[in-house]
Amino acid sequence: MRHTRWVTTTIDQDHQARTAVSTDLWRTAVVYQIYPRSFADSNGDGIGDLPGITSRVPYLRSLGVDAVWLSPFYPSALADGGYDVDDHRNVDPRLGTLGDFDAMISALHGADIKVIVDIVPNHTSNRHPWFREALTAGRGAPQRDRYLFRNGLGPRGEQPPNDWESMFGGSAWAPAGDGQWYFHCFAAEQPDLNWENDEVREDFRRTVRFWADRGVDGFRIDVAHGLRKDLSEPYLPWDEIADIMRPDGSHPLWDRDDVHEIYADWRRIFDSYDPPRFAVGEASVHPARRARYASADSLGQAFNFAMQDADWRPEDYREVINSGVADMINSTTSWLLGCHDTPRVATRYGLPLEEDRPAQQVARQWLLADGATPRLDPALGERRARAAIMILLALPGSAYIYQGEELGLQEVADLPREVLEDPMASRTTKEKGRDGCRVPLPWSADGPSYGFGQHVGHLPQPEWFAAYAVDVQEADPGSMLNLYRRALALRRELFVSDDLHWVESESSVLHFARPGGVRCITNFGPAPVALPVGEILLSSGQLDQSGLPSDTTVWMRAR
Ligand code: NOJ
Ligand code: CA
Repeated sequence: MRHTRWVTTTIDQDHQARTAVSTDLWRTAVVYQIYPRSFADSNGDGIGDLPGITSRVPYLRSLGVDAVWLSPFYPSALADGGYDVDDHRNVDPRLGTLGDFDAMISALHGADIKVIVDIVPNHTSNRHPWFREALTAGRGAPQRDRYLFRNGLGPRGEQPPNDWESMFGGSAWAPAGDGQWYFHCFAAEQPDLNWENDEVREDFRRTVRFWADRGVDGFRIDVAHGLRKDLSEPYLPWDEIADIMRPDGSHPLWDRDDVHEIYADWRRIFDSYDPPRFAVGEASVHPARRARYASADSLGQAFNFAMQDADWRPEDYREVINSGVADMINSTTSWLLGCHDTPRVATRYGLPLEEDRPAQQVARQWLLADGATPRLDPALGERRARAAIMILLALPGSAYIYQGEELGLQEVADLPREVLEDPMASRTTKEKGRDGCRVPLPWSADGPSYGFGQHVGHLPQPEWFAAYAVDVQEADPGSMLNLYRRALALRRELFVSDDLHWVESESSVLHFARPGGVRCITNFGPAPVALPVGEILLSSGQLDQSGLPSDTTVWMRAR
């Protein structure tokens, strides 16, 4: 966090007067992210599927979440974990059918859980019929205008048009074989769409309506900040644009102002349904620009990745909370500790804190070393992850939980190179990739895949997964799973409006008050600190006479 500056505004007395108890579920919803291929496998082929999700609805219900967000389950060659979509309006046959989707949604709705699906509008897969047509139609054909084809450099166009790099490493251009190249922000199997093309716009309107008509309650918009691009010449050299976060919309590829025209158009579609469909943007933008995506005439909510990027330090948390709470004044905010793209939270917090490298980077280096160095302290990581989720769930705004966080799963660091699925692992030597947080979930202490399915899963699970299994944790009142269940149930009861006040405290302590005077107090320091007199409602760790121990959060009612 030392690299970024945040706006520091709190919801104060004045604002409180303007803050009514919100009746909008989405403003405060707890959303559970399912990575379908790794959640539950119903037919033993090693791949999680939609009937698997349906079979686990009672688990989701008992967890107490308001909604689930499903990462892509669309037909895909899995060049990027399903974010390379062949057909945006269908189900991958390995994951089920549209009928299975309907059965899943009705089971979730029956349990009072809403459903969000992923829309991937920045690119299609290279197997999408449009892209195949673009390649065969040849230079200058209208079919190429749906994508971003440009002439290569050199006498026969044998060089890419410029030196721009893909987010996964290597060139952002791939050859069409005829002197033209196509642009891809991510893997070469994910050609970027041209959002100035009317057919592209119309096709995504159809996709949004298709899923909304099937009963989907909301959408998570992949790469929401990337759809509009300025690929006009002269191109800026890559080293001038490698830093993608700008405060003013001037980057040629990311967070351009006109991207919101697309969302204003979709907003009309969302609002034509009763109730209006919800949307959340995955927009890795400068903090000052995040609220634009979350405004009522754009997507309505945007992921706030700041807490996921924060180190385990009270000043980092304070900064992140102030910035997110400031977003709430005119729009909405969201909180998350992890997702399918980052090393697990319990691992990030179990690695040594470094002065000049954020925990995210330390964890990625550790992964590259297959977990050999630096030394991981899993118990410490878990303790901090417990304290962290209680901070997150005590905040106003919406909360996102990535599958397996509720089990306190650690990142799997020692996956052999030959089983890795993430294109990042093959496109760059600087990263091992994101498979370590996508290993199939352990549901039971026994079985060939710890209850994930009847056979082994698509990524190997380590033996230590047995101790984290759902059935083991259900039997242990002090488990991470039971902490999540209690915290989620209490959150509904306690935190009904947006008010938040900082309570003055020593620098190693984070202390804020919420409606009805409920306090959330976390001790980041090494020694126990005294607690106010009052009633303890929930604690992330054991308390004794000495006060609030290190790396522990309590929710309490002070007297
Ligand atoms: C963001 C997704 O979360 C990530 O998994 C994916 O690789 C990229 N978008 C590209 O679609
Ligand atoms: Ca399966």
